Amino acid sequence: MSRVAILLWAGLLLASTAALSARQPVHAKHAMVVTREPHATDVGVKVLQGGGNAVDAAVAVAFALAVTHPSAGNLGGGGFMLVRLADGTSTFIDFRERGPISASRNMYLDPATGQATKDSQLGYRASGVPGTVRGMELAHAKYGKTAWKALVQPSVELASEGFPVSWGLSQALRGKITSEKLAQFPESKRIFLRDGAFYEVGETLKQPELAATLARIRDTGARDFYEGETARLLAADMAAHGGEITLEDLKQYKAIERKALEGNYKGYGVITAPPPSSGGIGILQMMGMLALTDYSKGGAGSASSLHYEAEAMRRYFADRAEWLGDPDFVKVPTKGLVNAEYLRKRAESVQPGKATPSAEIKQGDPAPYESLETTHYSIVDEAGNAVSVTYTLNGGYGSGVTARGLGFLLNNEMDDFAAVPGKPNLFGLVQGEANAVAPHKTPLSSMTPTIVTKDGKLYMVLGSPGGPTIINAVLEVILNVIDFGMNMQQAVDQPRIHHQWMPDLISAENTISPDTIALLQQFGHTVKTTNSIAEVAAIRIFGEWLEGAPDGRTEATAKGY
Ligand code: DON
Repeated sequence: MSRVAILLWAGLLLASTAALSARQPVHAKHAMVVTREPHATDVGVKVLQGGGNAVDAAVAVAFALAVTHPSAGNLGGGGFMLVRLADGTSTFIDFRERGPISASRNMYLDPATGQATKDSQLGYRASGVPGTVRGMELAHAKYGKTAWKALVQPSVELASEGFPVSWGLSQALRGKITSEKLAQFPESKRIFLRDGAFYEVGETLKQPELAATLARIRDTGARDFYEGETARLLAADMAAHGGEITLEDLKQYKAIERKALEGNYKGYGVITAPPPSSGGIGILQMMGMLALTDYSKGGAGSASSLHYEAEAMRRYFADRAEWLGDPDFVKVPTKGLVNAEYLRKRAESVQPGKATPSAEIKQGDPAPYESLETTHYSIVDEAGNAVSVTYTLNGGYGSGVTARGLGFLLNNEMDDFAAVPGKPNLFGLVQGEANAVAPHKTPLSSMTPTIVTKDGKLYMVLGSPGGPTIINAVLEVILNVIDFGMNMQQAVDQPRIHHQWMPDLISAENTISPDTIALLQQFGHTVKTTNSIAEVAAIRIFGEWLEGAPDGRTEATAKGY
């Protein structure tokens, strides 16, 4: 390191720490629910107050968000549920979409020209086989205690009686990207855009077809969705529009219970998402690299700590592109990737005050970002059971398609595969062979529902939407608590950065000070500012209190008792 760099570095260590958010978390003594949408939060709290456990509440919230948060809450998508029971055992339910039987490696190339099509992102061919309803059924059957009907009923009511449209939903539905997407599909246009007479704030959104679908799920469970009336209507609509999902696909869908991935950071236990999520490996890798440095010395939000974080992010995302995919199809070297010695080697090239160009770590192509949606919610019940759920349609409002007569949007999760080999996906991720499209295969995910323990006891429950930014946001929030001493709300509100190796740049929230950005640029980073990165929903158990932290970047709420 040159003398100038050393002086600059020493100066940075003395630089003052950015001001922290003054907002208090929501406090409660017994139980807490944090979700992206107030009606869904209320549904979760009522289930808990009625004697349900955290898994019951999570099932009810999943159905409620499918009604009140249609951009990401879903019946037509999938996700992950991480559970840590009060007895200290944990489990992971993978209810993510799978490749349809007809899927093949090059299905998103135009056979005539060999060029990429938009089919993995938009329209009927973009959907993987949905998993949410099966996932909720599995979670409920194994870990729930409240009657299934009572968990679905609140959502039937929200859909049939309607709910007042919030400012955020009203804005989202009239926004250019969303309205143009939904307008291409008549059912979506009618239901969500009211054929162009956009919903105003406070108007009631009723969804009678969705209410009927939910009522069937309430009465006959997941069987309706995968083998009954809903399955038949969905398969018929798919067949009529060149979609891939058939009755057989639906019938064969299985949610998979997996072992959660476990690691630790500075004495805290970290329970997180295993493959086919890339996220758990991601946070453990980055924590492992950061633990080798004194990255936090510069203080929260300082250029020096952000620099180290970005360097860890860059190195992890290079590995992600190469190694990660569905473990049922490809060998994922999970142990090696989180091995301490491996991480020590990997971190050797990190230099204080000097960015490593991504091209020196691995080859790749820069690509643009797009604004997208997923949703996360966190729940802790009175007994100390904790549930962390991230589920999604992938892009905001998924494929744009609402299945005829069913009232729910379908996912465009097929784009999470390396849908067009060698080309960046919706999130600018270039992905490898390990994540090639195949029947029954699960596309690689960034969703990272996570639980942190301290002295063997439940400490934090968190997760986020945001595609690849999820992994970094979950990491940053955990670091904010453990290394920077923030409370749960401060940790969530703190400005975030994101680096994903390719494109070789730090995406930084524009609440980060221009001085800090200038320093990062001096270190050799390209920095691009953005309004908002990810939306974390978190709970911390702090002494006798639960701290609920909804993300101030959204209309999320926390409620407890
Ligand atoms: O599973 C994944 O990684 C993506 N389908 C998640 C998409 C997402 O988070 C979009 N949200 N903002």
